[in-house]
Amino acid sequence: MGYLMFKHAHMAMAFATLALFVGRGLHRLVMEPKTVGPVQKSFNYMSYGVDILLLVLGLYLLTVWAATDAPLMWVGAKLIFLVLYIAVGVFAFRPVLPKPYRWLCFSLAVLLWVLMYKTAKLKVPFWQWFG
Ligand code: HEM
Repeated sequence: MGYLMFKHAHMAMAFATLALFVGRGLHRLVMEPKTVGPVQKSFNYMSYGVDILLLVLGLYLLTVWAATDAPLMWVGAKLIFLVLYIAVGVFAFRPVLPKPYRWLCFSLAVLLWVLMYKTAKLKVPFWQWFG
């Protein structure tokens, strides 16, 4: 019962992080704010909180999985996507690249989220998806 609660909390945080990423990203890319207002600041802090919870819950789930004989390669694959998601997310948010590239990074980040989700659901690493 306890484990399922943590797993659902982890999943809820996964959706919350996507919603916050898309909302904050679109605000930056479409509105191009010149200063960081109090609302934007509070969404930024909310996002950091959600990400910390997502990762801590994920690590807890992993400790439970690690105590079993189940193969864990898919978790490694998910972490590869996570690192790439963070990297392209940074480039989508920061105005260091021209706008079309920032949109590309934004779209890639959403795609990487979908790949993380798919990996978690299938519990198979992406290099084994097609047989
Ligand atoms: C430190 C990073 C992470 C670790 C160690 C981790 C670990 C885990 C583990 C061990 C499970 C298996 C739970 C179970 O089925 O019993 C799980 C489930 C899940 N994770 Fe993560 N996770 C991490 C990050 C993420 C991220 C960033 C996402 C965003 C898409 C995500 C989405 C999911 C989903 C949707 C499930 C549930 C899949 C199902 O229905 O069985 N995780 N995670």
